[in-house]
Amino acid sequence: MIKPHGADTLKPLFVYDTEEHHALLSEAEKLPSLLLNSAAAANAVMLGAGYFTPLDGFMNLADALSVSEKLHTTSGLFWPVPIVNLVKDVSGIGDARRIALRDPNVEGHPVLAIMDIDAIEEVTDGQLESMSVHIFGTTDKEHPGVATFINLGNKLLSGAIQVLNFSYFQSDFPDTFRTAVEIRNEMVERGWQKVVAFQTRNPMHRAHEELCRMAMEDLGTDGILIHMLLGKLKPGDIPAKVRDDSIRKMVELYFPANTVMITGYGFDMLYAGPREAVLHALFRQNCGCTHFIVGRDHAGVGDYYGAFDAQTIFDEKVPEGALDIEIYRADHTAYSKKLNKVVMMKDAPDHSKDDFVLLSGTKVREMLGQGIAPPPEFSRPEVAKILMDYYQSTQQ
Ligand code: ADX
Repeated sequence: MIKPHGADTLKPLFVYDTEEHHALLSEAEKLPSLLLNSAAAANAVMLGAGYFTPLDGFMNLADALSVSEKLHTTSGLFWPVPIVNLVKDVSGIGDARRIALRDPNVEGHPVLAIMDIDAIEEVTDGQLESMSVHIFGTTDKEHPGVATFINLGNKLLSGAIQVLNFSYFQSDFPDTFRTAVEIRNEMVERGWQKVVAFQTRNPMHRAHEELCRMAMEDLGTDGILIHMLLGKLKPGDIPAKVRDDSIRKMVELYFPANTVMITGYGFDMLYAGPREAVLHALFRQNCGCTHFIVGRDHAGVGDYYGAFDAQTIFDEKVPEGALDIEIYRADHTAYSKKLNKVVMMKDAPDHSKDDFVLLSGTKVREMLGQGIAPPPEFSRPEVAKILMDYYQSTQQ
């Protein structure tokens, strides 16, 4: 099986030993505690689940700056996005160096992890802006990822963590949330060697479905990992439960049995386009995938990134051998009225725009909200039904 990033075996920071786990929970109740923001809590969940192997906790300022500028930590580890715990106020923890990290996303703010603080550093607004330019390509506060990042705070807490639960992801998505450890184990059980991963934060329409099928066929994989984001999104995006239901329906009806693993991970969307695509590839390698699909405007938002910037970054900024996972590059994919099937546009050079069934996201949302199913060439009717029910329930 493909090796995890930067390590021979996965390094989940979740404490699996029952006795140790119990002891840490009791200890945590007595420690000074810090209420995390959602971004840091999501980082802790990813670290706990092994997705961020080989990191052992939150990065310090030198690493965060180095990762932002050069995609490498100061010790030379390839990494595309700073994994940080930025906070506004540390007065509650005094001089403590071992603290409990509390979960902002669960009622009662239970302890999510224990942290051994190496350093508390002041980050200037200039440094935050510079990181923002590198990560998101902009400091525009209209960008949802920038708006979140710039407002996290100016104190950066670095150090190792021990993770004690997986926040709300395990309870809210018991059938879908999986750790990288569980995904690797399931691949071994299924006997899958060559696996392509599909990242998604949206419901899957015909183009997405066919993209998965094309990747599986072109690469000759044993299966596909549909791996959906379960964390926070920007307003207007479709909730994970609805996406999960619609993806399950699509797989049940349109994919051969035992060719798809439907899973999800607990992370908030960054909307960092190319940089996020590299992070996405890295943590799919940690899940045991050999290939990763990057299509049009991967992890993008608005017009901040070029349609294929998330593909070219792998040629321009990812050094040879930095990752073992291979990228499956997809061109804009849509239904061809001439060929009566979904194709990549590069494979239909004689087509004009009008030969494809193309609908904007806004148009699709408008139709679904009015109870009008998009054409079957665009959405499977069974998927459209789930989405229409959701949109109509939000209007009552
Ligand atoms: S993402 O933010 O998670 O990337 P989304 O769920 O919409 O958003 O896309 C999942 C994957 O499918 C990404 O790799 C994206 O580039 C790709 N994709 C989505 N729609 C198309 C399309 N019409 N043509 C080609 N690739 C697409």
